[in-house]
Amino acid sequence: MNFSLDVKGSPVYALSYKGKQVIKPSKMGIELKDKHSLTDSFTIKTSASKTVDESWQPVWGEWKNIRNQYNEWAVTLHRDSSNRDMVIRFRLFNDGLGFRYEFPAQKNLLHFVIKEERTQFAMTGDHTAYWIAGDYDTQEYDYTTCKLSEIRSKMKEARSSNASQTSFSPTGVQTSLMMKTAEGIYINLHEAALIDYSCMHLNLDEKNLVFESWLTPDPKGDKGSLQASCTSPWRTIIVSDDARDILASNMTVNLNEPSKIKDVSWIKPVKYVGVWWEMITGKSTWAYTDGVPFGTEGTAAPTEVPSIKLGQTDFTKLKPNGKHGANTAHVKEVIDFASKHGFDGVLVEGWNVGWEDWFGYHKDYVFDFVTPYPDFDVVGLREYARSKGVKMIMHHETSGSVRNYERHLDTAFKFMKANNYDAVKTGYVGDIVPIGNYHYNQWMVNHYQYVVEKAAQYQIMVNAHEAIRPTGIYRTWPNMIGNESARGTEFQAFGGSKPNHTTLLPFTRLLGGPMDFTPGIFEMDVSKVNPGNNSHVNSTLANQLALYVTMYSPLQMAADLPENYNRFLDAFQFIKDVAIDWDDSKYLEAEPGDYITVARKAKGKNNWFVGNVTGVKGGRVSNINFDFLDADKFYIATIYSDAKTADYKTNPQAYEIKKFVVSTKSKLQQWAAEGGGYAISIMEVAKEATKGVKKL
Ligand code: NOJ
Ligand code: CA
Repeated sequence: MNFSLDVKGSPVYALSYKGKQVIKPSKMGIELKDKHSLTDSFTIKTSASKTVDESWQPVWGEWKNIRNQYNEWAVTLHRDSSNRDMVIRFRLFNDGLGFRYEFPAQKNLLHFVIKEERTQFAMTGDHTAYWIAGDYDTQEYDYTTCKLSEIRSKMKEARSSNASQTSFSPTGVQTSLMMKTAEGIYINLHEAALIDYSCMHLNLDEKNLVFESWLTPDPKGDKGSLQASCTSPWRTIIVSDDARDILASNMTVNLNEPSKIKDVSWIKPVKYVGVWWEMITGKSTWAYTDGVPFGTEGTAAPTEVPSIKLGQTDFTKLKPNGKHGANTAHVKEVIDFASKHGFDGVLVEGWNVGWEDWFGYHKDYVFDFVTPYPDFDVVGLREYARSKGVKMIMHHETSGSVRNYERHLDTAFKFMKANNYDAVKTGYVGDIVPIGNYHYNQWMVNHYQYVVEKAAQYQIMVNAHEAIRPTGIYRTWPNMIGNESARGTEFQAFGGSKPNHTTLLPFTRLLGGPMDFTPGIFEMDVSKVNPGNNSHVNSTLANQLALYVTMYSPLQMAADLPENYNRFLDAFQFIKDVAIDWDDSKYLEAEPGDYITVARKAKGKNNWFVGNVTGVKGGRVSNINFDFLDADKFYIATIYSDAKTADYKTNPQAYEIKKFVVSTKSKLQQWAAEGGGYAISIMEVAKEATKGVKKL
């Protein structure tokens, strides 16, 4: 890492890896709304360095211990003309660089407004980028793979439609941004510890191949209002010549503060099923009645449905549509299924009043988060779930009406605790109310954080959908056990996702924290679930199993309907067996967009699970060995793989299950289809149990 001030007194940094430049000299600084920007005319006042090498134990995670090792250098810059100081703090890790701006409280810098952050990342060539379109409101895009210079021409195609979306530049992309150079160096740009600041996008100057930070504005167009003393989030550059190192990097989480929750005993990984996929596919509805159609502002409501107003509408007087998913009898069936197969939780969406006109109207008082529909028996189901040893998972869709949610938050959390719920899935579909705010501006970043901290007070775990993408904050707030903030499985019912999507998410979105991806779809022909929906899940069944290992998360859903699992109980066994918390993880093979193979050791056990996802056209042969196993133990591996005839489009349910004795000497060559993969459970057994079982 190099740092200097240029002739104008602007801070400039550069980064090399194994003797080769990966970031060319790049400017740093913050343009302020007042005239005295923190971008130039600096002199170096002081600097200080230190070395840190420590280990910490996450509450849940991919590893039992996480090593945090870096060299830190902080330079205090002085701007004479405005008599202002700004610190830039660098942390150099083996796997990359993090830096942030710090604003000490001082006479001439107390309250200030950011016009734009001017942090540059100057690329050394026209790299291959794996990117999603820059957007102030959504990350629910498929990834595009192309040269940096081609981003502009691919932008239109990259922007599929969404309930809330706001683009800002034809060369704007989101972080985490993954790239690969012609020499085979992998570079990832992102941010860490995004707290009380607006989300950073990157805008490319394609002529010079320079990215510059582009923050998400507030309703006035400003990029943030800060009060010293304060800091920016960390800007992160992860670099390696081995793609596996990017996946294994803990730099992002290490740049966050240690846990602020002292007693973490109530935070537990959760494997769950739900009343969910049936609504996503359109088989059943969230709403109890047939109300106003989504997002068609101005259209009249059907005559038999009055205008829905919470506190005024008597839902018991309305005609049920007969398709309401969250009805007591059906929820009991799902609880039974969860209990029978050993799941921890059941998520139920559409249980509360308000879904008739839930988004598209900028409705402020859209939900109250405590009033069930007439056919959902809160207390009865609480007791039923308790008797079956299953936890109910609460759902709070806010429809982006954030002020309304904050107004109800305490009451809603108290209601949850009173009814034995200790995890909530929140959601932010549609444009943000108050109007003018974006999902990713500073005010919204603060909202998501407020919910996580408030939830911690009530000992509630949070899984936020459509919220800001994570930046490692789960280290500080480990009750944030999940997030969506990317294109999840739901899009397979909305037209489908690219077959290599899941070979990219771990290189991008997952670097900041786990995703509630909701895998486990066994019926890929969505019309079999809902004849009115012709979407196709672009994945094989074996690929769906692998996702429980490749998409690390302490929160894992088995998203398909019980009846589809009942058709394939031998494959479902993997979902039942797979661990959701780990002592160790070994990335065995990786190439963004093409494949990921990872082996993980179950927490506190000697069992291992392996997952491979493949995105290569025509498929690919994965080659792994098992030297991660203990030499003095005995194991039986069950391999769930694509059959030779598997095809994510035409034959997705063609899988094979084989059992072998495996040892440190075993080797596997396993073909996986495009959009396919394989999953392996490796269970420690007594020596006798290996008798008569074929060796691998
Ligand atoms: C979008 C979420 O991602 C999905 O999981 C949820 O079911 C719907 N919103 C309704 O809240
Ligand atoms: Ca979503």
